[in-house]
Amino acid sequence: MKPATILVFDSGVGGLTVFREIKAALPGAHYIYVADDAGFPYGDQPEAALIQRILKVMGVAIAAHKPDLVVIACNTASTLALTQLRATFSVPFVGTVPAIKPACAQSQSKRIAVLGTQSTVSREYTHALIREFASGCDVGLVGSSHLAAYAEAELGGNPAAADAIKAEIAPCFIDADGRRTDTVVLACTHYPLLTARFRAVAPWPVEWLDPAPAIARRVVDLTGARSSNEPPTPPQMVFTSGRVPPPHLAAILATFGF
Ligand code: DGL
Repeated sequence: MKPATILVFDSGVGGLTVFREIKAALPGAHYIYVADDAGFPYGDQPEAALIQRILKVMGVAIAAHKPDLVVIACNTASTLALTQLRATFSVPFVGTVPAIKPACAQSQSKRIAVLGTQSTVSREYTHALIREFASGCDVGLVGSSHLAAYAEAELGGNPAAADAIKAEIAPCFIDADGRRTDTVVLACTHYPLLTARFRAVAPWPVEWLDPAPAIARRVVDLTGARSSNEPPTPPQMVFTSGRVPPPHLAAILATFGF
């Protein structure tokens, strides 16, 4: 039997944080990673135009690679376009949406923050997750305009200054009524690339919740029964801009297996 072809999609390199977990869980699958860097960042774009863009990019990628499963490794795209993607294409989609339920379940102080792009934290999809799953937990929504670009820069070898990162995460940290934030949901797939930087400037230690392991488990549930005797093929990376990654980024991408 042929190995499953899994297409992983993001606006940039953030989805690599999801890709590495899926690949670790399913090393025998064939992977295509599509980075819509020509459209980056997704975080501040008008919704109607962004839906059309995502449908177009996915249409081209699905036609070219004929995946068995698509992982939308982007909260901004998932909270906006999952419904339209599922209605348009017959391939199964796994989305990435803010991990509010597990964060509220594991929080001791019952005070958490959701750190995402401005779009993700303002979406009705995210507000519905809070209404449904936050029961008894205070949830702070923190939208960042800059962190995804800082993560791209970090991987590209131009790390942002500590103070700039500190300013972006500061609103996550609330100490009120005797309860401090103890869990921050990383609701943008770029942010786990900065976790060490976040820890270094955080006013107190918190759990930084990365949804990638849960997404990998979901992908295994959907494709895991499918095994192959063929040796794994190297993953492919496609930038919609057509750019060739400069040497520093190419070296980092090699550590992800590209
Ligand atoms: N990685 C994306 C996410 O999970 C968004 C980054 C962006 O394009 O603004 O939301």
